[in-house]
Amino acid sequence: MTSHALHHPWWHNGIIYEIYIRSFCDGSGDGIGDLQGIEQRVDYLSDLGIDAVWLTPFYTSPQADFGYDVSDYCNVDPLYGSLPIFDSLVARLHERNIKTIIDFVPNHSSIQHPWFISARSSRSSPHRDWYIWRDPAPDGGPPNNWLSLPGGPAWTFDETTGQYYLHSFLAEQPDLNWRNAELRAQMMNVLCFWLERGVAGFRVDVLDRIFKDPLLRNDPPNPDYRDGQPDFMRLRSVNSSNQPELMDVIADMRTLLASYGDDRVLIGELYQPVDQLVPFYAGPNNGVQIPFNFNLMWQKWYPPAIATLVHDFEHVLPRHAWPNWVLSNHDQSRIVTRFGAAQAKTAMMLLLTLRGTPTLYQGDELGLADVPVEQSKQQDQFARVGEGGRDAYRTPMPWTQARYGGFSELREPWLPLPPDLAHINAQHQSKEPLSMLNLTRGLIALRRAEPALALGAYHCIEANDSLYVYERSDEHKRFRIILNFTDQIIHCAHGSRHGHIVFSTHFVTPRGCAQEMTLAPHEGIIMAVP
Ligand code: NOJ
Repeated sequence: MTSHALHHPWWHNGIIYEIYIRSFCDGSGDGIGDLQGIEQRVDYLSDLGIDAVWLTPFYTSPQADFGYDVSDYCNVDPLYGSLPIFDSLVARLHERNIKTIIDFVPNHSSIQHPWFISARSSRSSPHRDWYIWRDPAPDGGPPNNWLSLPGGPAWTFDETTGQYYLHSFLAEQPDLNWRNAELRAQMMNVLCFWLERGVAGFRVDVLDRIFKDPLLRNDPPNPDYRDGQPDFMRLRSVNSSNQPELMDVIADMRTLLASYGDDRVLIGELYQPVDQLVPFYAGPNNGVQIPFNFNLMWQKWYPPAIATLVHDFEHVLPRHAWPNWVLSNHDQSRIVTRFGAAQAKTAMMLLLTLRGTPTLYQGDELGLADVPVEQSKQQDQFARVGEGGRDAYRTPMPWTQARYGGFSELREPWLPLPPDLAHINAQHQSKEPLSMLNLTRGLIALRRAEPALALGAYHCIEANDSLYVYERSDEHKRFRIILNFTDQIIHCAHGSRHGHIVFSTHFVTPRGCAQEMTLAPHEGIIMAVP
């Protein structure tokens, strides 16, 4: 163990891998991924070299939002397995030193949760106040102007009791009332239930939405709204989200997690610019350790813009805080589609060499692109209510070239496989030295082997129209990363006569190092320098 490892919790140098359960591997033969399927692929995860998996929701659910509509927080939907299968998976992963982080969905339940069924049965139900109800506006319309994220008003009228209920997402996902002490206690019990089953932490869904303005004031118009942006962005969600009480709940969650061990981690899903992530770090023991930083995803793929973002984040971070970076997830278009296939390797090198915990989304290590899904086969309900569906980013992992891509044995997968299955599959790429998969494995292995790369300081050398050059260093070693963002051969003077190239996205055999360096189009290199 190095001196670094002694001072850093596992998630500082750890790499998190998002598993979108429905699309990872089908172990039960129904065409839908499940926990059994993940267990069959534990070797793959171990070979990849990641430290933790984040499992998207597997709870009992009618699947209106594929598990983000929970009808029992303390059980596994039969579609995805069972509690014993969950326990077995956690144990198998643990044997390989892989931690299990699970999704926690506190903002809303399913409309079919017994709490909501009770709440909507009568105004005097003991669960009525566990959700957010209001009388209609004088004209009979919704109580205020809040918009749901998938599209349309955030309120649905309930005929039986004559009031509207709030739902920040689909009408099938009613928002819970975190100002109700009983609800709050129940949700904390849910965390205990899973911590006792050995989970290493939680990725908390839409963390900044769980408290709303108690007076339910209208959200003001968003002057920065541009045509083409989702409809909900017409308003600034200052009243429908992010209220001060949130920090108390986060602190309670941290205290609870800490009582199970100081290696438990709280990750917040927060779509915020870097400066507004800062409050969520709070203090060393009462904030979110990893407030997901999605800002690279929106960033223009241009070195000066990326370097500015990295600088800004490094600059605003409180002393106790640790950065993190995310390049994609199950809600966003894939890297290859956003930046182009040629950029995927430098993007992966960037993600795995920046300072901060990286989160990888399944399939990005294979260079999987969005897979178009024809309208008649669309699955995501978000497409039904307004915003475009997210199916294209959630298509199944292609494991082999076999029928159903090795994802499923018996049934056609629930979403299509990529058209270029011959190359975009894990088995094929395992054998290709320069494949995206082996590049990712190699970068992860290097990061694990070199504390300077995982934990060392970041220092920008240059960011111009073509190149992004930066260093990662500690008291023992220094690495220079040079990324060519263009489709041109680039000559630069960022080499070093005494350095050596330890990794290239384009060449298996390292070439010599000199002051003058030549980079292939879209090549990224990591160089050890004195
Ligand atoms: C964020 C999740 O990532 C997304 O998939 C889901 O639809 C919403 N939260 C609502 O839970």
